Amino acid sequence: MKNSELNNIMLSNQILFDRNKKIMWHPFTQAQTNTDIIPIKKGIGSYVYDYNDKPYLDLISSWWVTLHGHGHPKIAEAIYQQAINLEHVIFAGFTHEPAIILCEELQKNLPKMLKRFFFSDNGSTAVEVAIKMAYQYWKNLGYKNKKHFISFSGGYHGDTLGCMSLGKESGFHNNFTELLFDVLFIPYPSTWNNDKNIEIKEQNSILVLKDYINNNTDSIAAIIIEPLVQGASGMKFSTTQFIKTIVNIARNNNILIIFDEIMTGFYRTGSYFALDAINIVPDILCLSKGITGGFLPLALTIATEEIYNAFLGEKFEKALAHGHSYTANPLACSAAIASLKLLASAECQKSIYNINLAHKNSIELLENVNFIEKIRILGTILAFDIKNNSKVCMLQYMTKLKKQFLLEGLLLRPLGNTIYILPPYSTSYDDLINSYEKIIKILNNNSL
Ligand SMILES: Cc1ncc(COP(=O)(O)O)c(C=O)c1O
Repeated sequence: MKNSELNNIMLSNQILFDRNKKIMWHPFTQAQTNTDIIPIKKGIGSYVYDYNDKPYLDLISSWWVTLHGHGHPKIAEAIYQQAINLEHVIFAGFTHEPAIILCEELQKNLPKMLKRFFFSDNGSTAVEVAIKMAYQYWKNLGYKNKKHFISFSGGYHGDTLGCMSLGKESGFHNNFTELLFDVLFIPYPSTWNNDKNIEIKEQNSILVLKDYINNNTDSIAAIIIEPLVQGASGMKFSTTQFIKTIVNIARNNNILIIFDEIMTGFYRTGSYFALDAINIVPDILCLSKGITGGFLPLALTIATEEIYNAFLGEKFEKALAHGHSYTANPLACSAAIASLKLLASAECQKSIYNINLAHKNSIELLENVNFIEKIRILGTILAFDIKNNSKVCMLQYMTKLKKQFLLEGLLLRPLGNTIYILPPYSTSYDDLINSYEKIIKILNNNSL
């Protein structure tokens, strides 16, 4: 490459950075202190590239959406073919084949009881729809008192008002608590490898649930659960038996079960959905994030026929008054159909297996770093915590770590003191092992 070409590239990187700085307001970002915004030019497979052609290995699937890697040609082609045929049509009073095919294909991988598919645009709207469905279900059936929700402390369900209410104790929404409705919170019994106290923690949570039920007879509409893994609160795991017990108690007390599988769906936890491993069929299931392979925003709230039937009647008042302009966008549906096909391929299944293997084979390396604790692996997710050391300011240390990861070409975004890896399924075994070696080297760097 000629010097002049190189200069042009460096220049465009800087120019974009400056233009962005003047105009942009970034999500979940304190703009005054976080000035390290990186302009990205392209994405190929598990890597994204800046304007200097520096590669960053996307170890968090770009906020957990990129399932098959960036720019997968099969998904790109599906979107193109759909775009020249039908880009969009209003979904009230009209339908289209991509939406129908997508639901039919998903249904093949879901418990038979989950039969009715309601589209929206993102994880938050999927949960918002679930809240409205659960609330109105009881109302339509004549149970006027059933209007309270139970959630887990630390649970995160999105950033709209209903979602923030259910995720009030995640710590992300503290500025808005006055705007949120009351929710009953159960302590979350987070667990990890060799956790000795899990039974006591679980018993405590079960007691709290029973207590809520006894004190709020017939007024609880639903419980919402991120099955097996609480994502945003720091990749916190729970046991399958615990979720099963909670669901059984709730169900025996006429409480609807909402599973928020927005992060855990599509093999993130090892099985197609986390519900498969738990062997539980929720009344309502929320999906989004990986559904389109990370190409376009789309979400589904899927309900049983029993719930759907409660909304039927002569009057509109009984119907679900909810919809978005881009509901069931055909481009997003086509991307999702292509993504599901890729997911079923032998190549993708092998890759999911290899990611889990690389995680497992890195445990020993991680266990040798003495300020790491609570190592945990489930499916394609690996997480561990940095021990809280009173000598260092954790927030500052984690910020420095994140910067150093980026310098080394690793796209990681720690959650509090938790470092996690949740890579696209295009990521090779060797790339992951190399990343772990780099991560450990950075962690062992005493000068940070
Ligand atoms: C479990 C869960 N539910 C809901 C959401 C909200 O999704 P979105 O960011 O697409 O609104 C998230 C996002 O991280 C999530 O992890």
